[in-house]
Amino acid sequence: MDAETQTHPVNLILLGPPGAGKGTQARMLTEAFGLVQLSTGDLLREAVAQGTPAGKVAKQVMAEGQLVSDEIVLAILKDRLDQPDTGKGVILDGFPRTEGQAEALDALMLDRGAPISAVISLEVDDEAMIGRIAGRYTCAECGEGYHDDNKPPASEGVCDKCGSTQFTRRPDDNAETVRTRLGAYHMQTAPLIDYYALRGNLKPVPAMAPIDDVAEKLTQIVKEVSDG
Ligand code: AP5
Repeated sequence: MDAETQTHPVNLILLGPPGAGKGTQARMLTEAFGLVQLSTGDLLREAVAQGTPAGKVAKQVMAEGQLVSDEIVLAILKDRLDQPDTGKGVILDGFPRTEGQAEALDALMLDRGAPISAVISLEVDDEAMIGRIAGRYTCAECGEGYHDDNKPPASEGVCDKCGSTQFTRRPDDNAETVRTRLGAYHMQTAPLIDYYALRGNLKPVPAMAPIDDVAEKLTQIVKEVSDG
């Protein structure tokens, strides 16, 4: 399947701790299949940057590495899902993160007649995530993600995608906050692995492999669920 031959919407969830590669893989699938990446982390960072009431509340919580309230996240997610470009399918990156969010998502997707096609759980070692996140940076223009060691741009200091020379690092990407984020993942989000396993649509993917190898596995899954 590709963007031209897709016949029904493909709605994916990417589950995994900070640094597992959710954003990296979501962007690659977006390019390959024309699905819309819907990252609640990105949506919240936009709200913070715009200084909206929700953004003002979220700012401190995110800086501490804790989860933003379900109420705020669900409101932001619903607004984005309502936009017309989501009809072909979405990749939920970083959502749901609590059982409350998962239940609300079930209801939302039922309402829209757009069920979740697969829940991909990226399996990684926690300790390696600290190094992945400490080395991460993004293009300030187009948002393309890079890593000091694992994924530098082809030409040093120049974005592969848009040619910009401006890059940014996230304020919550320091070792201390990453440990808090990993703790929040294990306490509040990891239980969703069983939640979706019980519903029969969980696809565990070993994600310590190189980025392109993980992408190949995810591509296979998207093809399977869009043919099925
Ligand atoms: P969010 O923005 O979602 O951050 P996160 O879950 O902590 O995940 P990351 O973006 O850090 O990691 P990733 O898995 O996307 O990894 P990436 O692909 O960049 O959330 C931030 C905050 O917002 C939360 O802490 C919370 O406060 C709030 N929030 C968001 N959603 C929420 C929700 N639903 N409910 C409540 N609060 C919410 O990869 C990392 C690096 O590793 C990159 O440099 C990449 O190049 C490299 N890399 C990727 N894959 C590989 C690989 N296979 N091998 C080697 N290197 C790799």
